[in-house]
Amino acid sequence: MNVFASGAAVDGIETPLLALPVTSGDSRGAAFAAADAATHGKLSAIADEEGFKGKPGSKLLVHTSDLGARRMLLLGVGEAKDLDVMTFRTLAASAVQAANTRQLSSAALLMPEGSTDADSVAMAAQGALLGAYRYDTYLTQDVAPMPCEALTLVGSLEGSAQVIERSLAIADAVATARDLVNGPPADVTPVYLAKVAKEISEDGGLEYTVFDKAEIVSRGMNLLMGVGCGSVEEPRLIHMTYRPEGATDDTPSIALVGKGVTFDAGGYNVKPTGSIEEMKMDMAGAAAVIGAMKAISKTKPKVVVHGIVPAAENLVSGDAYKPGDVIRSLNGKTVEIMNTDAEGRLILADALCYAERLGVDRIVDLATLTGACLVALGPHTAAVYASDDEFASRVCAAAKGAGEDVWHMPLLQKLRPMLKSPIADMKNIGQRWGGSITAALFLREFVGDVTWAHLDIAGPAFADKSEGHVTKGGTGFGVATLVELLEGEL
Ligand code: BES
Ligand code: MN
Ligand code: ZN
Repeated sequence: MNVFASGAAVDGIETPLLALPVTSGDSRGAAFAAADAATHGKLSAIADEEGFKGKPGSKLLVHTSDLGARRMLLLGVGEAKDLDVMTFRTLAASAVQAANTRQLSSAALLMPEGSTDADSVAMAAQGALLGAYRYDTYLTQDVAPMPCEALTLVGSLEGSAQVIERSLAIADAVATARDLVNGPPADVTPVYLAKVAKEISEDGGLEYTVFDKAEIVSRGMNLLMGVGCGSVEEPRLIHMTYRPEGATDDTPSIALVGKGVTFDAGGYNVKPTGSIEEMKMDMAGAAAVIGAMKAISKTKPKVVVHGIVPAAENLVSGDAYKPGDVIRSLNGKTVEIMNTDAEGRLILADALCYAERLGVDRIVDLATLTGACLVALGPHTAAVYASDDEFASRVCAAAKGAGEDVWHMPLLQKLRPMLKSPIADMKNIGQRWGGSITAALFLREFVGDVTWAHLDIAGPAFADKSEGHVTKGGTGFGVATLVELLEGEL
């Protein structure tokens, strides 16, 4: 998919399909008015006749054989005051999807006056790519071709080439993250994640190291090994590093840490039918980090970025770890395993400690960590926990700019006693209530004094249906927020 900007007038655009945002209320908006004038009022006559009122999500396709645009696709956006930049992500996705359905090789989207700013263009460009995403590696039958290869954004969009280029870098990285999440767990193993991370590092000029099983053991990453030892698929600790040109010891640095459980069966606390089917997605945090590293190798922020992924498979076998085991973590703290299904926090603990020892200024981790987070915030919103409120607001602001839903949650110190163990420094679970918070409190034990944020992405990492730019399955959630975060002050 490619995205172009064109300053052509509505009646001058040669395209098989021109999408037009249409507002509800007294006026149908500037885009519609321009197109209506070009059709000498035919468009409004048809819209009236069809009762098209511009309700959000409504669509009407009109053939316009007397114009350069062969068809116009009216896309309702609701009231003009509600038209925000994120709407353009949805609109672009709709335009491209409509073109694909009709087997058209391109489409155009009119950017109305007042919506020609860089952010609207950026979101339209991302929506075009992401709306056309499909995981088709294993589809062999009845696969409809998706011929739409380009979306032209029409309007006074001077200087948008760079904006579009950045958006395409982000969207491409989101697609990479989606591929990793959608891939079957037999393919997407810890070793495979390492291979993809290596390829991305080589292509993008990043430093790359990986610890194999022997090195994980010799370094004392016993929690990562504990989770991974029940599988014939060996665990890995993946470390990619981006350094901006001219970086010195004083250049600000951050570590991004992503949970990479390539399949979470729960271990001996095995997951029942109904909970286990989608657990290939338990490496979505890893996918977000690897995706973000891919994106920043092109967008080139001014900070040193470490992408760290602890990767393991959580299975049942004669070698698997057991409830009651006590395991010594990389930072020396001992953990009594009370539930083998609370494995994400274990592999993250060693990885966070590894990140802290790099001497970074900030740590952000992303993990499909708890079902409790889904209970709290629903399927679209990630929880943000942070060691200080200011950093939490930075993360939340980045997510807002990127168009991803997050909510700042409290790290309630009062719940810390729930993690007390009679025989070790802590247990790996709390009690029933506040499960997303106690998971975050557990992680905090491993970041030392570094300013840290934790995103529980259990909800938004995986979508049960397609909607706008989000496609069913892996969503690539987190990539765009991370890219945005790294561009601002940390
Ligand atoms: N990977 C799961 C969390 C999860 C659940 C992600 C649903 C996405 C959708 C995690 O490893 C897990 O099993 N968590 C347990 C923790 C519990 C044992 C304290 C949970 O949420 O039930
Ligand atoms: Mn689990
Ligand atoms: Zn898990």
